[in-house]
Amino acid sequence: MAVSDLLPRLDGALSADLRPLVRAARDAAAAENARLYVVGGAVRDLLLGRPLVDVDIVVEGDATSLSRRVAQQTGGRVEAHDRFGTAKVLHNGPVSTGHGQSLDLAAARTETYARPGALPAVQPGTLAQDLARRDFTINAIALVLTPPDEGSLLDPFGGHKDIEAGLVRVLHDKSFVDDATRIFRAVRYEQRLGFRMEPQTESLARRDIRYLDAISGDRVRNELDLLLREDAPERGLARLAEIGALERVGLPWHDAAWLSVKFAQARRAAPPGALLPEIYLGLLIYTMSLEEASAALQRLNFPRATDQALRDVGPLKARLADLARPDLQASAAVHMLERFQPAALQTCAFACDDEAARERLRRYLAEWRYVKSALDGHDLARLGVAQGPRMGQLLTSLRDARLDGQVRSREDEESWVRRALAGPTSAGPRHGEQR
Ligand code: CTP
Repeated sequence: MAVSDLLPRLDGALSADLRPLVRAARDAAAAENARLYVVGGAVRDLLLGRPLVDVDIVVEGDATSLSRRVAQQTGGRVEAHDRFGTAKVLHNGPVSTGHGQSLDLAAARTETYARPGALPAVQPGTLAQDLARRDFTINAIALVLTPPDEGSLLDPFGGHKDIEAGLVRVLHDKSFVDDATRIFRAVRYEQRLGFRMEPQTESLARRDIRYLDAISGDRVRNELDLLLREDAPERGLARLAEIGALERVGLPWHDAAWLSVKFAQARRAAPPGALLPEIYLGLLIYTMSLEEASAALQRLNFPRATDQALRDVGPLKARLADLARPDLQASAAVHMLERFQPAALQTCAFACDDEAARERLRRYLAEWRYVKSALDGHDLARLGVAQGPRMGQLLTSLRDARLDGQVRSREDEESWVRRALAGPTSAGPRHGEQR
């Protein structure tokens, strides 16, 4: 692929908000006599003709002073993190709200790992050192943004050649020992770009799989989450399983063919706003024994709500045969399902192969869980029901009667309550389902 037109291509690929910021950074660097580069994923994606997700810019020099110049020129403000040698130029309100635009600048640096899996210690360095600390050759290319060589590539590890050959290759034999999360990253690039690990890199990944043990649950979870946001994550998961990485982080891989079908169905049918990664994880948990699921969740340390939803999957799966019973009324289904998190119910709606159970899960999620009686506690008090547990029981039974179509209007409900008050056994739960 020709590299002569990379600067115009970069210009074209940048968003309209970012373009003037990059232009200003180039001017500011020229004025400071500092050398400026685009590095990492953006160069890789430019060479591949893929859209840019984010742009990492590295300066050989002081990132904070350069950012100040850019901010001055463009009317933005600076957020500097001197300890890491990084700075952000911010425009139009906080970026976290989604309204702002920001440019990240980092000083070229070296990294050293005190022990496998530790976060690296960072020191200022040259661009060559900055490229040498990186994960793969395809990410260790720099595009020069300042004269005299602007527009040329610095590619000390042959990354451009590997991009053309479709290869993910580490820079040195200890790369996965330094940071075993790179095994996940390698697979992510394989899947996303249609690449393959170069054979020696793959055997290093297999050799160094045990270094994943030194990676915290939070970091593993973060990698997993990134993988699950890719287009067809079942392929990446299968590949991680083949290398031995999935099992090593506590995720046994059963039933690949079934999971493939279910992942694809979930993608097609997930309701708007559903968190697909959470559903994928739920499907994975669905294939595990309760012990395996519990160990996986312990290892991956999910935030509380996700953890609870995933913990619900196994116990809910165990109730699906009951949920499929032909004589089960809507109210009994609701009593069975309301203790489970919606994400677990959604997962089982995809996972379950029984049509009747699946239909009840769908109706519960879409309809039944929102059903309420028309009468509330005040109405019941007006009809002569005393405060206390009986009031709660009556309200629940009233909702059940509505779910089962025994009452359809406010008037129906009032007569239902009157009947219940007249005869102590005529109202109350009428179904086999235990609460
Ligand atoms: N990097 C690394 N080792 C890691 C994480 C990141 O060497 N464990 C380096 C890579 O060179 C990468 C850069 O840091 O290019 C930025 O990381 P990140 O933003 O995660 O990746 P991108 O290259 O931007 O790729 P992606 O498209 O996946 O975001």
